[in-house]
Amino acid sequence: MSKTAVITGSSRGIGAAVALRLAKDGFNIALNDLNEGMFENNTIVNDIRALGVEAEIFCADVSRYDQCESMVKAIKERFGTIDALINNAGITRDCLMARMSEEQYDTVISVNQKSVFNMMKLAGNVMIKQKHGKIVNLASVAGLYGNPGQINYSASKAAVIGMTKTIAKELGSRNINVNAVAPGFISTPMTDKLTDEQKAKILEAIAMKRYGTVDEIAGVVSFLCSEDSSYVTGQVIEISGGLSM
Ligand code: NAI
Repeated sequence: MSKTAVITGSSRGIGAAVALRLAKDGFNIALNDLNEGMFENNTIVNDIRALGVEAEIFCADVSRYDQCESMVKAIKERFGTIDALINNAGITRDCLMARMSEEQYDTVISVNQKSVFNMMKLAGNVMIKQKHGKIVNLASVAGLYGNPGQINYSASKAAVIGMTKTIAKELGSRNINVNAVAPGFISTPMTDKLTDEQKAKILEAIAMKRYGTVDEIAGVVSFLCSEDSSYVTGQVIEISGGLSM
């Protein structure tokens, strides 16, 4: 039986690495990002298809419930099932609270947090009918410990952790596992934006003295989408090279 994974925000960064890894695990892949243009300069669709599974792009702004509704319907029609959902799409609008605008706050909450409600509800309904499913939400160490300049981002990621635990309790009896991963500092376009001074300070605090790679996140997500984690739910796995010890 073929199985399908949906990965939001998967044209690049962690999402693209997760898509490729789950394709290697045998999932057909529903890729998502804001628009087709996001996929223009990369080879992700062909790389996935070369592994012998199917890949399709479904454009939607996951902060918009109506767009998620159309996307989930289209994925269900194309692939038949939704066996794994990875809520990966996320943004930062960093700024100290004193200078942060309401727009910066609201945008991050709606993309990082509301999207997780939208997609867990819509794909979760498909999984309930199937009587199985795996949901993995991308949280962050900022949601666990806070981070100056990120009141919006840390609020959204702390919320994702609460939502993960709540929905793990609601859907556990339906054979649906719901977990979160909390990456530390991973080399992606999101962290490239940090200044050299910020980067040096961060490295000091990491036990392993290096940034993580997108593949190191994808490996843990793969485990959480596999039968090896069938009795793991409601958990937050920190992937930070020992940042918090
Ligand atoms: P990234 O910026 O490289 O990729 C995020 C993707 O999400 C982009 O392709 C973007 O277009 C897409 N996206 C943004 N808004 C969207 C929307 N409304 N609808 C659909 N797609 C949208 O980010 P990265 O670094 O790969 O991060 C992925 C996830 O991991 C995010 O949730 C982020 O918060 C989380 N994370 C990343 C860390 C890092 O060090 N890179 C650390 C902790 C968490």
